Amino acid sequence: MTQKPLIFAVFAAATVALAGCPESPAPTTNSAAPMGSAMTSASAVAAKPLPPMPKAPALAATPEGLAELKIPADNAQTPEKVMLGKQLFFDKRLSRDGSASCETCHVPEKGWTDGTVLSKKVGGAMNVRHSPTMINVGYNDAFYDDGRGETLEKTAEAAWKGQLGADPAVIAAALAKIPLYQVEFKAIFNSDPTPEAVGKALASFIRTIRSGGSPWDMHEKGDKKAASDSAVRGFDLFRNKAGCAQCHAPPAYTDNGYHDVGVGYEKLDPDTGRGKIAKDEKLDGAFKTPTLRSVTTHAPYFHDGHAATIEAAVDYMLSGGIKEKNKNLDPKMKVVKLNAKEHDDLVAFLKALEAPATPFERPTLPE
Ligand code: HEC
Ligand code: HEC
Repeated sequence: MTQKPLIFAVFAAATVALAGCPESPAPTTNSAAPMGSAMTSASAVAAKPLPPMPKAPALAATPEGLAELKIPADNAQTPEKVMLGKQLFFDKRLSRDGSASCETCHVPEKGWTDGTVLSKKVGGAMNVRHSPTMINVGYNDAFYDDGRGETLEKTAEAAWKGQLGADPAVIAAALAKIPLYQVEFKAIFNSDPTPEAVGKALASFIRTIRSGGSPWDMHEKGDKKAASDSAVRGFDLFRNKAGCAQCHAPPAYTDNGYHDVGVGYEKLDPDTGRGKIAKDEKLDGAFKTPTLRSVTTHAPYFHDGHAATIEAAVDYMLSGGIKEKNKNLDPKMKVVKLNAKEHDDLVAFLKALEAPATPFERPTLPE
């Protein structure tokens, strides 16, 4: 597997030191390692030894400004599971034809999106919605722009099937033939790789993708030099005149709710979003409020990816949204007139919600 160089991303991940087998493999006449056998057992002496379980980096502390994550009782967050989930996220062997991984559409250096309006799934079908960021997804109550994903574990498993075209049972069986994965799944889940365990490990890794400790968080903590005067004025506009905080409520900068802000209503057949999932016409056109933390790192914007820049996205929100043919436009959407300086201040505030850039290191993939 190729390794890309370090660049910048949202959070610092410690180096995953996946040491190769420290001892040279014992000379053996039996070349086939027994699949699914215990890591170290006297009966495995004649077989090629499995690699040792690598040491996983410690879990990172909660960044400044963020709440503690709520972790589901049946998927404890452990350093080993996060390490495994990180490998799986970047591993193209999860896809049907080896052509793509989760990273293909959720790129760390592009704010965990892919920088395109709409992407193609493995197999060639187009997505109808823009690839969303993975930033702070662990804080969501429901997943996807329309909230149809009930848990992050199930959503990750569904993405594996839907986006990577995988038959999870087939790929899980293939992963079981990769010695280090075999060792890791055994140590973490006490089983061979299963679709459910893959979903759990991916979810655990995604929960570590967090944006906090931004200049604005430091400002709120009392470091008055952390944010510019322009950002300070921008926050006042955000809360008051421009009314953004009604939906993008601090400190998460989302209310975890669904609102119709009119995106896509210029199309002949607009995406009904939450309405279809909730089977409620009054929610047609409603989408989940996205977080604005590190939002400036991942253009283009909105579920249809139509806004190419943060300025264009802000202009859209200030326009009050598309009303034509739209029965459910949220009454909180108002036409707000800002002068050029106020507009710059509002964008400066959004920029101040960006987490400090720290190098992101891709995992070494099991061979
Ligand atoms: C071909 C592009 C593509 C690939 C590859 C891909 N995704 Fe996505 N992902 C998307 C799109 C598009 C959506 C939004 C779908 C929607 O809202 O209906 C999405 C949504 C998600 C969400 C929900 C985010 C939220 O805000 O609730 C999660 C979680 C996710 N993907 C994880 C993954 C994982 C894990 C993988 C690898 C197994 C993966 N994705 C691979 C395009 C992709
Ligand atoms: C009525 C609730 C509401 C209000 C008020 C509101 N937003 Fe939003 N915002 C949303 C929703 C919902 C979306 C997602 C819409 C979609 O993709 O269809 C969104 C999307 C965005 C996006 C794109 C984020 C991304 O990741 O694609 C930005 C930027 C944004 N809003 C900024 C603002 C600003 C700035 C204001 C104030 C001028 C504001 N919003 C006011 C609900 C709101």
